Amino acid sequence: MISAAWAAPLWDARRYAKRIFDASMDKFLVKGPVRLHGNVTISGAKNASLALIPACLLAPGVFTLHNTPNNRDVWTISSLLETMGVGYAFADNTLTLDSTNITSHEAPYEHVKKMRASIYVLGPLVARFGKARVSLPGGCNFGPRPVDLHLKGLEKLGAEIQVENGYIEASCKRLQGAHFHFEISSVGATVNILMAAVLARGETVLSNAAMEPEVSSLAHMLVKMGARIDGIDTATLTIQGVDELHAVTETTIPDRIEAATFMIAAAMTKGDVTLGSVNADHLTAVIQKLEESGATVVVRGDSIRVSMDTDPEAVDITTMPYPGYPTDSQAQWAAYMLQAKGTSRIKDVIYPTRFGYVPELQRLGAEIETGDAYCLVKGGHRLTGASVMSSDLRASASLVMAGCIAEGTTEILRVYHLDRGYEAIEQKLMRLGASIERVSTEEF
Ligand code: EPZ
Repeated sequence: MISAAWAAPLWDARRYAKRIFDASMDKFLVKGPVRLHGNVTISGAKNASLALIPACLLAPGVFTLHNTPNNRDVWTISSLLETMGVGYAFADNTLTLDSTNITSHEAPYEHVKKMRASIYVLGPLVARFGKARVSLPGGCNFGPRPVDLHLKGLEKLGAEIQVENGYIEASCKRLQGAHFHFEISSVGATVNILMAAVLARGETVLSNAAMEPEVSSLAHMLVKMGARIDGIDTATLTIQGVDELHAVTETTIPDRIEAATFMIAAAMTKGDVTLGSVNADHLTAVIQKLEESGATVVVRGDSIRVSMDTDPEAVDITTMPYPGYPTDSQAQWAAYMLQAKGTSRIKDVIYPTRFGYVPELQRLGAEIETGDAYCLVKGGHRLTGASVMSSDLRASASLVMAGCIAEGTTEILRVYHLDRGYEAIEQKLMRLGASIERVSTEEF
């Protein structure tokens, strides 16, 4: 067992990638309580990158994506594209992708099972090549996540879809523009159908489309590539299909969920943290809730300062599609409310069973009750360190945050979940004064 011995090569991207891929048995040791203070730079948005990267399949050429986060999911989708013939290189958070010679239109199960967003190759492949064979994504730790809207939308654009042996088989001579209404606002289905519609013949109208910044950033890149899209940032997207697109250079937007994680961590540790390279416009709902809880939030250009010196007020949240409070920050809010003066309710209407973190926080001494699509957090209980298990990306973040306020050492197992969506989170926390150590079982 060696701790943190691997810190030096951190920024050697491929070595780092191998490291986080091999880190399946890593755990964190977090000592608390601590008060976070200082500056942290927010990385590019994981969920934006996961849409921009497959969009490169829509046109031949070399794409350059700056500010790409160096995390496990980015490597997973890049290596999936590599199996299709896309060459890629990654250094200093710039991902270069060459989609000139696509040799395969298949996304195999062994790739898709690692990450649901792999399904984002479906729209671009059908749109550009008229065929695709994509494995259905497997299950997810926080409940059912169907892809029916992805398939219905493509069928509405004229694709023939069959699902056999766990694979989606899609084909179409040329997609045809149409009006598709999303019964539920879905980020993933909007991303997939939007990428299909830009090369369809004629006009497509997508209504009740998702308005998340990650969807808008994709739309902006598609326009740069030559697509014609109106209504960006609204729930109605109107696309005039074009015959071809071209490669571009793009810069990934900041990660609003990573930012929310650090902002809430600052408040819950009664800290004083300034986030840099962040877009406050994407965080309105989170900022509002933090202010309601008594935190001080100061926005200056692309930086946000969060400070707190008392226990927070108990504040309820209900998750909503953007611009509502993000479901990807509800676990973090629950951890924060462990400090609150009173009881708060955390309701998740997007993923009603996304409460896998509750029994783990209870192991630290938290008093939390769960109900139908919500949990009730009784604040003010003394927390003490214990061994806890990560179950998914955001649940793991809430455990790390709780470890920062619990007395003693908290051991967080299976931190590979965190590596999926946070770039070097323990390094960033250490710089803010956290006592956190990655322990791995392997000599690098
Ligand atoms: C995206 O997932 C994000 N992932 C998720 O973040 C995020 O939690 C989610 O949007 C909601 O904001 C990426 O961007 C890669 P949805 P996605 O389609 O696209 C239902 C993280 O932690 N639905 O917007 O899969 C679905 O069950 C991840 O970074 C259907 O019913 O989410 C859910 O209740 C986790 N049929 C709702 O819509 C469909 O075909 C919203 O899901 C698609 C979705």
